[in-house]
Amino acid sequence: MKALSRPKGTQDWVAERARELSFVERTVADVFERYSYQPIRLPMMESVELFQRGVGEATDIVEKEMFLLESRGGEDRATLALRPEGTASTVRALEQEGLLYNQQQRVYYAGSMFRYEQPQKGRYREFYQIGAEAFGFAGPDLDAELLLMIRDSWRALGIDEFIELELNTIGSAEDRARFGAALKAYLLPFADELDEDSQRRLERNPLRILDSKAPRTRDLLADAPRLEEYINDEARAHFDGLVELLEGMGQPFRCNSSLVRGLDYYNNTVFEWVTDQLGAQSAVCAGGRYDALVARLGGKPTPAAGFGLGMDRAVLLREQATTGNGALPGPGLPVDVYLCLPRGAEQRWVMQLAGELRAALPTLKLRLHQGGGKLDKQLKRADQSGALLALIAGPQEIEANAVALKPLRGNGEARTVPRPELAAAVATVLEHS
Ligand code: HAM
Repeated sequence: MKALSRPKGTQDWVAERARELSFVERTVADVFERYSYQPIRLPMMESVELFQRGVGEATDIVEKEMFLLESRGGEDRATLALRPEGTASTVRALEQEGLLYNQQQRVYYAGSMFRYEQPQKGRYREFYQIGAEAFGFAGPDLDAELLLMIRDSWRALGIDEFIELELNTIGSAEDRARFGAALKAYLLPFADELDEDSQRRLERNPLRILDSKAPRTRDLLADAPRLEEYINDEARAHFDGLVELLEGMGQPFRCNSSLVRGLDYYNNTVFEWVTDQLGAQSAVCAGGRYDALVARLGGKPTPAAGFGLGMDRAVLLREQATTGNGALPGPGLPVDVYLCLPRGAEQRWVMQLAGELRAALPTLKLRLHQGGGKLDKQLKRADQSGALLALIAGPQEIEANAVALKPLRGNGEARTVPRPELAAAVATVLEHS
């Protein structure tokens, strides 16, 4: 029978790459927890209406990128979608659980998101995000702290030198409506010269035209009205406050006045962390403030801000970065120590020994040989596992209440260590390799 393949735009994460993805998620989650963000887990499917209201009807995501679920209830149109992003769901969930009203919250999530896009390197139909959202904080100090938390994440992943911060303020919805009208009036006489996407956006979402990469559109935009001119005073002061804090913290950034974001819920601060190492898919993390979303989804007005970090892209960047840059922090070896039990060894004794080592050295990755066989075959397995050290507990060693310790890399000597001293001896060898 013909073998089956994975769906277009999805990935199988196996072997080293799976370990990489877990490492990225764990490392970044640890940074978030050090900033006191708490984990949440949300449904992978939500109502279509949540994204229409939350992300916005005129966005690419809602117009053409949602995976709609055919339900079995006989409805004539889909009412559920696979989540394309995590912010709308976070607001829905915290509101539904009664965790937003008069409260402050800092939460994070990690998992798959789904968008019907044309797949290419760094762009998938199922991709992984780790995102953080904060509720109940109106000031620019929160925005600044989010950005420093992201910076710490890049540092922990060893890729900070490849990523730069771009920042903008897009003001309030009213500011953008006035600006959008002015932009539309300016571009209308040139409508025929705009690229196809921009022509479509002219009616529904003129701001997104600022994202266009088409050369003629870019030329036309050179003399267009500028969003900066429409930003209200409060938004301006918020942005100045943020800039001052970032400068004070020594965090470099670039102001990019055409950064407007593809989701409708933002106001004031928006940002993207970009790299020049991944071709067209340059954004590794993006987010901003969305003070109006909680109310738009039925809650009491609550200031909020957050971001999503693309883990697939972080993995790609780490893969690329290693080629030029030596060792990055990483998931470590899959196995540190391989425990062999030659013929005649007492299984229970060896399993107890493994238990002792695991208890004494909580981060030790110990693989216990299974299935018997000759010692040289077991040692071969030990070598193939990548372990640094083989331990051999044969009948003679057991008799002497000791274990043979055989370094598998470098030129350390094999020796026999009394059982009570074994954990310390293993720790020393691992520390020095
Ligand atoms: P977003 O810009 O749509 O924002 O996505 C955030 C990040 O997810 C992107 O910068 C990118 O790294 C990654 N990403 C997006 N689409 C794909 C894809 N098709 N393949 C691979 N990676 C992708 C949001 O989703 C907002 N919810 C962020 C946010 C949270 N804003 C406030 N709170």
